[in-house]
Amino acid sequence: MYHLVVFASGNGSTLQAVIDSIKNHELEAQIDLVISDNPKAYALERAKENNIDTYTIQSKDFSKRDLELSNVLCNYSIDLIVLAGYLKMIGPNLLEKYTIINTHPSLLPKFGGKGMHGMHVHEAVIQAKEQYSGATIHFVNQEYDKGNIISQTKVTVLPTDNAKTLSEKVQAAEKVQLIEVLNRFVQHEI
Ligand code: GAR
Repeated sequence: MYHLVVFASGNGSTLQAVIDSIKNHELEAQIDLVISDNPKAYALERAKENNIDTYTIQSKDFSKRDLELSNVLCNYSIDLIVLAGYLKMIGPNLLEKYTIINTHPSLLPKFGGKGMHGMHVHEAVIQAKEQYSGATIHFVNQEYDKGNIISQTKVTVLPTDNAKTLSEKVQAAEKVQLIEVLNRFVQHEI
């Protein structure tokens, strides 16, 4: 079996898409643990409803968080870590030990970097009057949204779109893309 750990800071609809694809046998994998830096993240509820272990990070400081996570994760056998709406930087201990991917709601390198997450991204795309936006899945390195790109999906931004309608389109495309990418990892194509 292919073992995943998912990190999430908020709603967790991306986590839910992975849970659903596993339940529907569209992805032959299991999620062993969901980690959040936010004790109120709805993602944690989604995990508990599906009998997945959860862990809430205690440390506020970057280096301590890296060590804390390293200690927690060493109890698991992990093939891949998926950042699904996780907003904190990943530290060197984790980067060294694990393959980590992130899903980002824009066509990177556009609209990436510190502070660029969730609705902030979609608002910036609308403001810039972009013709296209989309979702990017990339490897995680020591810089926000800078790791090698694995896959991108483009969506058209209509003149009638606002940040909310754009986010719905991007998130729908993003979920399909993530399941495709995860399947490629499971098949050892990546
Ligand atoms: C997703 O669209 C994800 O790409 C984005 O946050 C959303 C999480 O939604 N991630 C980032 O912006 C990271 N820079 P969710 O909590 O419903 O899964």
